[in-house]
Amino acid sequence: MKEILKIKDVSKDCGIKGFETNVLKNISLTVNEGNFISIMGPSGVGKTTLLNLMSTLDKATSGR
Ligand SMILES: Nc1ncnc2c1ncn2[C@@H]1O[C@H](COP(=O)(O)OP(=O)(O)O)[C@@H](O)[C@H]1O
Ligand SMILES: [Mg+2]
Repeated sequence: MKEILKIKDVSKDCGIKGFETNVLKNISLTVNEGNFISIMGPSGVGKTTLLNLMSTLDKATSGR
């Protein structure tokens, strides 16, 4: 199966230096061609942050 999107150990910290919160911590995800996926979870868990990273609108603190 062809991988069309892959993120590995992605973390995102937000906030003022020294007072960051870990919005995302070590997220890995692979999407294969033809897959249809949903990103689900309650408000504030980091869905929008994750999508912003995957679309390169935002930059991860670490990970690839
Ligand atoms: N730029 C930012 N600075 C500080 N906190 C942020 C920032 N962006 C998001 N957060 C916090 O990270 C958490 C996840 O936000 P978000 O990705 O918008 O969640 P969701 O889309 O799942 O509701 C929330 O607690 C939010 O307040
Ligand atoms: Mg959101």
